[in-house]
Amino acid sequence: MAPPSVLENCLEDSNSETYPDINWEDIGFSLVPTDYMYVMKCAKGEKFSHGNLIRYGTFEVSPAAGILNYGQGIFEGLKAYRTEEGSILLFRPEENALRMKAGADRLCMTSPSVEQFINAVKETVLANKRWVPPAGRGTLYLRPLLMGTGAALGVGPSTEYTFLIYCSPVSNYHKGSLNFKVEEKLYRAISGFSGTGGIKSVTNYAPVYPATTEAKAEGFSDVLFLDAATGKHIEEGSACNMFVVKGNAICTPTTDGAILPGITRKSVIAIALDLGYQVTERGVTVEEMLVADELFCTGTAVVVNNIASVTYKNTKIEYKTGAETVAQKLRKTLLGIQTGTIEDRKGWTV
Ligand code: COI
Repeated sequence: MAPPSVLENCLEDSNSETYPDINWEDIGFSLVPTDYMYVMKCAKGEKFSHGNLIRYGTFEVSPAAGILNYGQGIFEGLKAYRTEEGSILLFRPEENALRMKAGADRLCMTSPSVEQFINAVKETVLANKRWVPPAGRGTLYLRPLLMGTGAALGVGPSTEYTFLIYCSPVSNYHKGSLNFKVEEKLYRAISGFSGTGGIKSVTNYAPVYPATTEAKAEGFSDVLFLDAATGKHIEEGSACNMFVVKGNAICTPTTDGAILPGITRKSVIAIALDLGYQVTERGVTVEEMLVADELFCTGTAVVVNNIASVTYKNTKIEYKTGAETVAQKLRKTLLGIQTGTIEDRKGWTV
């Protein structure tokens, strides 16, 4: 008899009703290796056609790959949520697919179609479904990557692209109350098409490590970046979008090329409008932030979280936190939709 295929093995694992032997409360946002990852390749000038689930693990890549030498790579982040009834929901995966396509176009890469992206995400979740934490105890974070894997010494678009999805169960990204520091020396991005702040390019993250490392060593949770042109407007954190609240008015920086068009950001804006808040996307000055009632951050990893304080030029400004804040109301509604406890009237969940 022929040995079982990877997919058959995979379905056997994934049909197991047994959760892995881990303490969901301890996982935080660190990598927990799961069973399978999804891989699909295509040559430059061709389209992606079909991919495979393979055992999670290291994979071979040429030392001359575009991703390793010239940073030709982008990634996404989305989560699978277990409902009280035990089914699994994805939240707006087509938005991730479209954002990946925008990033791929910006970096001259071939991208999977929206349908291929969503099917790959579904297959990855099903193959790893025992790793989707029980309701209320975490989520399965999916990390789709698109990278130039063709070998070339010269600078130029890669001759081969690899689309890969791996995943890890996660709980809270940040621990405890959030205290940010305004970064005044390093800038994360520049506005317009010249920068890459508006896409999830792999090259957007390491260049700000000096700032985040210094802030963390000083006891801060993260940094808040300012605009590179004037240094007078707030932009985002190292892994989250920012919102300022004053009374009933909520403002967030415009996605002008320097700001990542976050899917949680976009969803929170829609929920806030539905709840009757006045929401504006525009340039938000540091001065406005300093006199705001509330400051909060959004992102797939961070969800929606109040920022308790911001330190700017050595002065610490404190903001409202707690269950009665606008941020917590928005968070509750968002998580309710994502986990199926609030009716999804917008058709966001899959
Ligand atoms: C996400 O929220 O999914 C992100 O991509 C942030 C990540 C850099 C942790």
